[in-house]
Amino acid sequence: MNLARVSAILVVIFVVVSAWIIVTPLTGALPEATDHAQSIDFLFKFMLVASVAVFLIVQGFLLYFCLHYRRRKDEPEDALGSDIHGNTRLEIVWSVIPVIFLIVLTAMSFKVYVDIVAIPKQAYIINVQASQFQWECDHPKYGITEVGTCHMPLGEVTVRLHAHDVIHSFWVPEFRVKQDAVPGYPTEMHFKTIRVGQYRLICAEFCGVGHPEMYAKLFVMSQKDFAAWVKQQQQANSGSAPTTNLSFSKDIEPIFTAHCAACHIATHLANLDLGTYQGLLKGGNIVSGPIIKAGNHKGSVLWQITGTTGPYPGGNRMPLGGPYLSTAELAKITAWIDQGAKNN
Ligand code: CUA
Repeated sequence: MNLARVSAILVVIFVVVSAWIIVTPLTGALPEATDHAQSIDFLFKFMLVASVAVFLIVQGFLLYFCLHYRRRKDEPEDALGSDIHGNTRLEIVWSVIPVIFLIVLTAMSFKVYVDIVAIPKQAYIINVQASQFQWECDHPKYGITEVGTCHMPLGEVTVRLHAHDVIHSFWVPEFRVKQDAVPGYPTEMHFKTIRVGQYRLICAEFCGVGHPEMYAKLFVMSQKDFAAWVKQQQQANSGSAPTTNLSFSKDIEPIFTAHCAACHIATHLANLDLGTYQGLLKGGNIVSGPIIKAGNHKGSVLWQITGTTGPYPGGNRMPLGGPYLSTAELAKITAWIDQGAKNN
């Protein structure tokens, strides 16, 4: 078999395999649910086809040369092969072609990257709070908070990520994009959802013993269904009205027990007077000022020190090392402070 025929066979194999790669949809097992998914899948297939070409050229000719230039029966065992040194034209060809390919690949990848980080003019904003080991999705536009589920409409969406304790990572395989949630460093991701459905929001960063359990159901809904869902949530919220007339013993004490009692003496709990906690200690920093400011929760040290975004007076953040309070718990504390922090 001569070189020309081997080359022809390799070209045929390349054409068949490439055609199979191009026509086989990745979307069978993993649908494309965002605009980024489409461009990333295209890039993936482009690289896969290029890899097939490189693989066939290298391995195909390697195999051919091994067979073609093997030692023949009538040759002595110590026979020397032909003595070849360099081939300038060939070396230029096999350097220039990969360089051109890499430049094209860089340009294509950069285009996709720019699209992923671009901030859309108008997007539906969701604040996502990641903590060990749950996802909480807040809808600031409607004042809705959900834990363990996350609903979003079709169209441009901006997800603002916050981590309460350690690094987590927001990953929906069907979206093809992923973003870390880092404590004290808010991050964002932008995408346009294009496919209605239910997906899994997975934590893709090892964050502790509960990491494999840290996922939420994510729903992409049509604008109409989403509006209906919002209405339903608002009606449900207005029915129970959880943030008015909070009682210390029923609403605040469980939060105190879960987050504060480890350091703050439990015997003070039954009849807690937060005013006696004037000197909050952490790493030697003493904070002075009103712990509770009725009617002005933002001026209260308690609110600042347990909040998700600070300020943290004197560099203190409570609880020491977490678990930090969820947005829902903070909302209760805020409402309680605003009521005048009564032991009612
Ligand atoms: Cu959160 Cu892994």
